[in-house]
Amino acid sequence: MKQLEIIIGSQMGGTEYVAEHLSQLLADLGVESQLHEQPDLQQISFDQPWLICTSTHGAGDYPDNLLAFIEQLAASERLNQVRFAVIGVGDSSYDTFNFAAKNIVTLLQTKGATLLLPQLEIDVLGDDLPEDTAEQWLPSLLQAWKSA
Ligand SMILES: Cc1cc2nc3c(=O)[nH]c(=O)nc-3n(C[C@H](O)[C@H](O)[C@H](O)COP(=O)(O)O)c2cc1C
Repeated sequence: MKQLEIIIGSQMGGTEYVAEHLSQLLADLGVESQLHEQPDLQQISFDQPWLICTSTHGAGDYPDNLLAFIEQLAASERLNQVRFAVIGVGDSSYDTFNFAAKNIVTLLQTKGATLLLPQLEIDVLGDDLPEDTAEQWLPSLLQAWKSA
């Protein structure tokens, strides 16, 4: 049974909330997902598509809870079978808008993983709530997920 591995990078809880909201919507649609609040590569299936939801902190840096996972990815030689999607939550007043999301796409693609659809880059300065923007994107994700 196909499900989704949801990998969360969040420092202040906002992106975690977006991920939990999507997980609940997916459950309502009969799609199982596994939330990883402290992602560990050893505990994530390579056979299931991944959805990485990450904010950006510092000056274009990954959130603290994602740092160990990023090191694991950088050291791994087994990522070429991974299919993934990315949601970034950032603030467009920074020059480094959504750099964590952009950088994780590049890292995984460099490792041979397949990006299922262009990443969603949410701006917290936008009019809509981040979870509402993510919800509007969900049909595109589901379409890509079905063919993954
Ligand atoms: C100290 C600090 C640095 C930040 N740096 C960036 C940045 O470089 N790029 C960006 O797009 N957003 C940046 N942000 C905005 C956060 O990504 C945004 O507030 C996001 O909603 C935080 O998500 P979280 O609650 O999941 O940690 C920064 C926020 C803070 C507080």
